[in-house]
Amino acid sequence: MLDHSDATHLAAGTTPLSAPNDLDAFWMPYSANRAFKAEPRMITGAKDNHYFTPDGRSILDGTAGLWCCNAGHCRTPVVEAIQTQAASLDFAPTFQFGHPIAFEVASRIASEAPEGLDHVFFANSGSEGVDTALKIALAYHKVKGQGGRTRLIGRERGYHGSGFGGISVGGIVNNRRFYGGLLGGVDHLPHTYNRAEQAFTKGEPEWGAHLADDLENIVALHGADTVAAVIVEPMAGSTGVLPPPKGYLKRLREITSKHGILLIFDEVISAFGRLGTAFAAQRYGVTPDMIVFAKGITSGTVPMGGVIASADIYNGFMDSAGEGMIELFHGYTYSGHPLACAAALATLNVYRDEGLYENAAKLEGMFADAAHSYLADLDIVEDIRTCGIVTGVDITPLEGKPTARAFAAMQDAFYNQDMMIRVTGDTIALSPPLTFAESDVDQMFAGLKRTLQAVS
Ligand SMILES: Cc1ncc(COP(=O)(O)O)c(C=O)c1O
Repeated sequence: MLDHSDATHLAAGTTPLSAPNDLDAFWMPYSANRAFKAEPRMITGAKDNHYFTPDGRSILDGTAGLWCCNAGHCRTPVVEAIQTQAASLDFAPTFQFGHPIAFEVASRIASEAPEGLDHVFFANSGSEGVDTALKIALAYHKVKGQGGRTRLIGRERGYHGSGFGGISVGGIVNNRRFYGGLLGGVDHLPHTYNRAEQAFTKGEPEWGAHLADDLENIVALHGADTVAAVIVEPMAGSTGVLPPPKGYLKRLREITSKHGILLIFDEVISAFGRLGTAFAAQRYGVTPDMIVFAKGITSGTVPMGGVIASADIYNGFMDSAGEGMIELFHGYTYSGHPLACAAALATLNVYRDEGLYENAAKLEGMFADAAHSYLADLDIVEDIRTCGIVTGVDITPLEGKPTARAFAAMQDAFYNQDMMIRVTGDTIALSPPLTFAESDVDQMFAGLKRTLQAVS
């Protein structure tokens, strides 16, 4: 048990909202509202690798919040940077004006990105980042005189946030089927998961690179001159953790380059060390035309997202408009918000100073071994996938009640193992802060084993 009476942070029960007396007004996102409100899993504080509950328990954070708190929680340099920024420049517009820290953060992000990706457009979330990248792709072809390239290609089981652009190219059925016709002119590549070929693989599976060739079929069907961009998560996260088959992303890059189609990597989850490198693009040695980022850029402290674009894309816009004219008609009031920029800069410094990307790379082998050695023999475990500091564990659904067993596991982990896990369908996804030590990894998988035994 941690000593969270430490006066340097607001711990359990000390925030005014630790025990709200009315849970009705807040319509919770992607949540079973009625179940939560009947039995709330309330969090009132956090420090480093733990959350704290109103009844004084320390909860091991197995999910880095929502795949975002890569540096751990309430880190002093980040907290202080946000506090200082709030007191010196709370807000300034970035439409036709600027403040230095936004330029500084953009340069820092570009310096960590693969060579050739040099220009950063800021948004406030992954969803906005995705919509920004899709819009840039369409507009880029237009300013280059290829306005017929309007088709966007996503992938089955892809998750690209909740905006209309993101759910259109996304491939998670429940996120799409309630919302009408979505964007027109969208196709989907097949997803890359095949249990018979890939089950219990550590890291990237050997089987599946050929699935990238389906892009050739889509291009042949519509004509390359109608296709603007392909967007994929290098490692699909929200659908249940699907590492890319070996060679798959290289094939996608070859085919898109051959046909003049832009390749967008949605790295909202995979960026900032999650796979042991700054970006997944570097792990796989594949440079897309744009990278979407969010989450880990501020370690979840202040909302921020954005797009890193190639010099070719940026220069295409700069060359397209007359002197003094706006080059891209897109942006958000809070693009490059000073508080988010301060948080981002401090977070990137923590990653660098503490070698957290390297720590993730170092932990990966032990993380994968622990996942398999604790869980592979359990009867209800059907597959385990690992990649970087991420694992997806598929469990057998309860007969006639899809997702119910995973939900029960999440509750058991929270109440009985003092641990936060995330579930998606009947898959358990773990993605802890990069500050985890081997002992934390061990504790997490031991706890998950007990939870899975409890719901068996
Ligand atoms: C790959 C990917 N893209 C986009 C998003 C959406 O990000 P946000 O919830 O910040 O809008 C997410 C969120 O999990 C994601 O995993």
